[in-house]
This record gives sequence, structure tokens and C-alpha cells, in this order.
Amino acid sequence: MIQRPRGTRDLLPPEARLWQAVEATAHEVFGSFGAEEIRTPIFEATELFVRSVGETTDIVHKEMYTFSDRKGRSLSLRPEGTAGVARAWIENRLEDRSHPLRLYYIGPMFRYERMQRGRYRQFAQIGLEILGADSPLADAELLLVLHEFLTRLGFQDLLVHLNNLGDPEDRPRYLEAIRTTLRPYRGDLCTDCRRRLDENPLRVLDCKVPRCQELAAAVPPVGEVASEASRRHVGEVEERLSALGIPFVRNPLLVRGLDYYLRTVFEVVSPELGTGAVLCGGGRYDRLIADLGGPAIPGTGFAIGEDRLVEVVPEHFRQQVLARPRLYLIPLGDAACGKVLELSRQLVRAGVPLELELGGRSLKAALRRADRDGFRAAAILGEAELGRGVVTVRNLGTGEQQQVDTSRLAAWWFDRIAEQH
Ligand code: HAM
Repeated sequence: MIQRPRGTRDLLPPEARLWQAVEATAHEVFGSFGAEEIRTPIFEATELFVRSVGETTDIVHKEMYTFSDRKGRSLSLRPEGTAGVARAWIENRLEDRSHPLRLYYIGPMFRYERMQRGRYRQFAQIGLEILGADSPLADAELLLVLHEFLTRLGFQDLLVHLNNLGDPEDRPRYLEAIRTTLRPYRGDLCTDCRRRLDENPLRVLDCKVPRCQELAAAVPPVGEVASEASRRHVGEVEERLSALGIPFVRNPLLVRGLDYYLRTVFEVVSPELGTGAVLCGGGRYDRLIADLGGPAIPGTGFAIGEDRLVEVVPEHFRQQVLARPRLYLIPLGDAACGKVLELSRQLVRAGVPLELELGGRSLKAALRRADRDGFRAAAILGEAELGRGVVTVRNLGTGEQQQVDTSRLAAWWFDRIAEQH
């Protein structure tokens, strides 16, 4: 028996319907704010991620699916979406378009993660990038879109964790502060963090090992060494969030696991997922496109983990999506089978969601099945009905049964069944 690879999932019905509904909401909300969808390849040159996400990050260092193709080129399955969007922006000369440009994507990402709840090796992200705007207003708009989207799904008590990572010019001073604070405790750090302390001390701050976290708490907040301009920037983002009534807290330990960020960074944590699993992360990356060889164009963005999102999506949304009522159409006998496809075409054109009985079940067996699978109503087409141009309809909630003209069937569905739910 061949099994799926560890860390991957099969999305089965009706769960997949939740994913469709979440994605439809993303298209709608992001689109309303002027964003357009972009689809970039699932694999890219490995170098793209090394130069954007960062060589010493966990993602590039130990979580990438990297392989050589038949010509010996090093390719990697994308571990995130921002690098691909930045590459596509440069390669397709999107600088010629009007800016700011709001681009969003929905699709699978790949990271070789250790297995835990909410962590998968193939997972999906819903991401949004705003390119060409360096103002705090852009960061605040981004968080507004995120908040609107999550509110539309029914979330009420989510909290934005926010931090200021300063400007790249502030970084050496900050890295030195981390080194100075942690050097005396070097022996207490995990093996990875000892390496990180030399290579990229910022990464010590998001280590998940409890002892490392304890020690990291003593590091002065990055905000303390950040430039005046970056403090004003993040301060303004906070003002706009307050004005909108979007709840947030300053979290001085939030540094994010990717190297391209500066100034504003944020995460959204869901209480249901526990502390290890962040629902959404993002921030500003004004140097990324220039670092990849493009012009100096600022950017800011976020990505939501769709697997985690669906896992904790509020019950009301879940119910509404999963309870979609359908009509079960049951033909009895050859003559009815000859007519029933035409009838289902008419009904579907009128907007009635249905399912056709194909198995030649007896009426009793068909009704039992309809009950078991949660159909709201059945429409029975037999010899007698055919002759008189009617169908027998049965409300499976109440057991009520009557005959309606075939031409009135859609109206009956909408008035008597769909309306009641
Ligand atoms: P990230 O924080 O690495 O940021 O990932 C964003 C979200 O993807 C996480 O908050 C989480 O919900 C989800 N995620 C990450 N890894 C996994 C996993 N193994 N299993 C399930 N879900 C996961 C980024 O990727 C940035 N590109 C976000 C961004 C966009 N920054 C600016 N623009």
C-alpha cells in the first residue's frame, strides 16, 4: 500500500468545501481593496530563496525541498510566496504599471518541518503584497484587509502582535546588542543557537527551545536601537490601527523567521491553535527587490496559513458552508431516466443545487440514502408523474410530500426549502 508522504494531507469532501469558501472570501475581500491575483511557479531557482529568505534562516538552512533537474540546475519547491512575487515583478517589468500594486496569491508552499499540530510539509498560504508604497498607511491598509478578511470569516478575538525591526542600518548595532547579552550564556544555548549567534544572531530570538527563549527575553528590544524614522513609521501604523479599532500589542521579541524584513513586522495568533502555531505573519521588505537585482521599490505583505485558518475557522462559518442544502433527484424506471437529465439541466440553470440518483436504487433505498447524507428534499420522477408533467416532492425535514408541476419545481425549492435555511 502506497501512502502519502509524511506531512502532506488529502483534503476530502466536504472539508474541501470549506477551503473553497475561504478562498472565495479571499478573492472577494482582497479584490474589493483593488488587489489582483498573481500565480507564480511552485518551484524556483534555489538561489532566489537563499538571497531573499536568507541563507542562515531555518527555512533555507534545513527546511527546503531542493533538487537538481536533469540539466543539473538547483531548484527548490517554494517555501513561501513573497520571493516569487518579487522575482516576477522584476522579470515581467511590472514597474511599468501603476503603483502601488496590490498582488495576492493562494497556493501550496513546502517546508521540511518536524511534525506537530498545524505544521505540514505541504501547506497552503493566502498572501497579499503591496508593492511601491513606503508609507505607514500601506502597512495599515494591509492589516485592515487582513482584519476585514478574518472578520468576514467570523473571527472576533484575534490579536495582532506588532514589532519594529528598525532599518538595515540599525541592524549591526542590534546584532551586537544580542551578541553582548547572550555571549556569557553561550554554553546554555542549543546547538543551533550557538551557530546562529555567530551567523545571524537575530534568529536566536525566534528559537523554539524554552531555555533559548528564556535567555532571549533578556535581549534589549530592537526598538531601542531603531532609527528615529523607523520608530515614527511603526508608531504611525499603530495610530491608524487604533483609529480603526483593530486590536494589537507591541511584542518586542517578534523578529520573524525570514531575513528580508525591516521596520514593521507582525503576526496574528489564534488562541485555539496554541502558542506554536501562528495563523498569519508579515511585514515590510523595502530592500528585497533591490537585493534581487531590481530597482529600489518598497514592499509590505502578509501570508496566512490556510490549513491552520480552516482548522480554527469559526463554527458559524463552518456550519453555513457545510450545511449547503441540495435536492436529491430520483428517477424511477427507464422512461424517467430518459427525461431526468433534461430536468436536472433546467434545475441547475435555475440555480438549484442537486444530485442525481444514478444507481437504480429502489425508492425506499434512495430515500434512506437521502436522509443519511443530509439532503433537504427529494424530487421523485416516476411513470405516473411523467404522464402528468409533475414530480413528487418530499421535504425530508418534515416528511411532507406533495406533487408540483415540473415547471414549478425550482420555485418550490426556493420557496419551501432553500428559504427555510
Ligand atoms: P511565514 O510566517 O513564514 O511568512 O508564513 C506565513 C504563515 O504560513 C504562517 O503564519 C503559518 O500560518 C503558515 N505556515 C508556515 N509554515 C507552515 C507549515 N509548515 N504548516 C502550516 N502552515 C504554515 C511568510 O511565508 C512570508 N512570505 C509572509 C509575508 C508575505 N511577508 C511579507 N509578505
